[in-house]
Amino acid sequence: MEINGKTRLLGLLGDPVQHTLSPLIHNTLSDILGINEVYVPFHTHKEGLADAVKGAFELNILGMNATVPHKNEIMASLVDIDEGAAAIGAVNTLVRTANGYKGYNTDMMGLSRELESYGVELDSKRVIILGAGGAARAVAYMCMNKGADKVYILNRTIEKAQTIAEDMNGHFGRETMTAMRLGDYGQLLQENVDDKFVVFQSTSIGLAPNNEAVVIDNPHFYDRVSVGIDLIYNPFETKFMKLCRQAGALAYNGLRMLLYQGIIAYELWNDISISEDVADIVYDRLLQ
Ligand code: ATR
Repeated sequence: MEINGKTRLLGLLGDPVQHTLSPLIHNTLSDILGINEVYVPFHTHKEGLADAVKGAFELNILGMNATVPHKNEIMASLVDIDEGAAAIGAVNTLVRTANGYKGYNTDMMGLSRELESYGVELDSKRVIILGAGGAARAVAYMCMNKGADKVYILNRTIEKAQTIAEDMNGHFGRETMTAMRLGDYGQLLQENVDDKFVVFQSTSIGLAPNNEAVVIDNPHFYDRVSVGIDLIYNPFETKFMKLCRQAGALAYNGLRMLLYQGIIAYELWNDISISEDVADIVYDRLLQ
């Protein structure tokens, strides 16, 4: 795409930003769709974040993504926040409005679209979330929003799981979510002896280069999994996914979540819908 007087700028605020795949996603979209926009990474420190958002608005930047460690702090610099992002407590996408940026959480929306693309439904299902970090909050909101019957959130540090469960039960006005210690999964399997679970793996265990690490290694656990979704995409097939498949469950990684969080951000910035055919072209680029 030739840069000219009509080119609009998009960008990423983060620290670090060197390894991001977002420029690839968004610049591929601009190329395929013939939209005159360029997406660039901005290495931004915490201390300068508010100034960066203000400056971006003054520079007529159309939209931004926020990544680690800015997803919470950036909320203070926005003029409006989408309901889901506010409940999650994290914003990864800034959409330009007349007087400032509105924040969204397209990580959560992207995971939701990933599940739709695989035909995985959560309505009336029993769900286990492994981990209670930043990513788990987006997973937890999505499970509640999609009408899961019961959601168990398991974490090494139980207090973090408890906080998420309290926040989500409070937000949705129902006691759907229960926090447990990671090691107590046997108890929940016994309590739900006739059920299989949709399991989200949101810990950092198994991330490259620790490809053989897995959050739960007991094969009996995997006998109770119907679908396993690992948020990790590097390695492409995690040990968690292998154990799910060996037990006869479906298993997916987090690459489509990454793809769709970008696609949805681009849709919001440009007020368009992007077809699955275009999404598939971008996905192929991510695989190269
Ligand atoms: P993200 O933003 O990707 O969610 P995070 O907020 O750092 O990352 O969360 C990492 C998650 O992996 C947490 O749930 C963490 O458990 P704690 O809250 O107890 O720290 C989990 N995790 C990381 N290493 C772990 C390990 N060795 N054993 C168990 N859980 C681990």
